[in-house]
Amino acid sequence: MNHHEIFSLRRSVRNYLDKPIPREMLVACAEAARIAPSACNSQPWEFIIADNPGIVKKLADASFGPLIKFNKFVPGAKAIAAVITKRPNIISQIGGFLKKREFNLLDTGMACENFCLQAAALGLGTCMLGWFDEKTVKKILSIPPDRRIALLISIGFPADTPSEKKRKSLEEMCRFNKY
Ligand SMILES: Cc1cc2nc3c(=O)[nH]c(=O)nc-3n(C[C@H](O)[C@H](O)[C@H](O)COP(=O)(O)O)c2cc1C
Repeated sequence: MNHHEIFSLRRSVRNYLDKPIPREMLVACAEAARIAPSACNSQPWEFIIADNPGIVKKLADASFGPLIKFNKFVPGAKAIAAVITKRPNIISQIGGFLKKREFNLLDTGMACENFCLQAAALGLGTCMLGWFDEKTVKKILSIPPDRRIALLISIGFPADTPSEKKRKSLEEMCRFNKY
């Protein structure tokens, strides 16, 4: 597969096979996240990956509820990664403060994308989840209260091929030399 094929292959997968994920595949995804770029090489992320069915179920239950109905597919996932975004190193903190940028969120997003692209290349499906009960997820995974969870990522072997999402045209999102 070439790079563009992998980029296109990565889609949000919301329907999973009832098939466990070999631990090595999850480690490979974490390894891809590990080598993502970050401001001042701060690497302000941690991935807590649940593949124990009991823990996955509890996390899935924390990703929907009366107000979050659209994440009802998550209990079908075979693993869920909780992605922690941390305070970056001091140089990145100073740079972020002076330039008014939250580098740790940009960095963590890139690590998540690396994780999901690697998953796609291995034949796994993922869906990034921004809606979940952070307090409950922290409790389930024993994550210290002062940590922030940027995202959950649900993971499993795809049970179908999600339809291709519409994207803005290249002309709309990219210009050369002038806005
Ligand atoms: C930060 C972030 C949060 C998201 N949260 C959710 C979510 O809570 N539930 C969900 O079903 N999809 C969620 N998504 C997936 C997006 O809906 C999806 O990426 C987008 O529609 C483009 O589709 P594609 O991923 O198939 O290319 C999230 C994606 C991102 C990047």
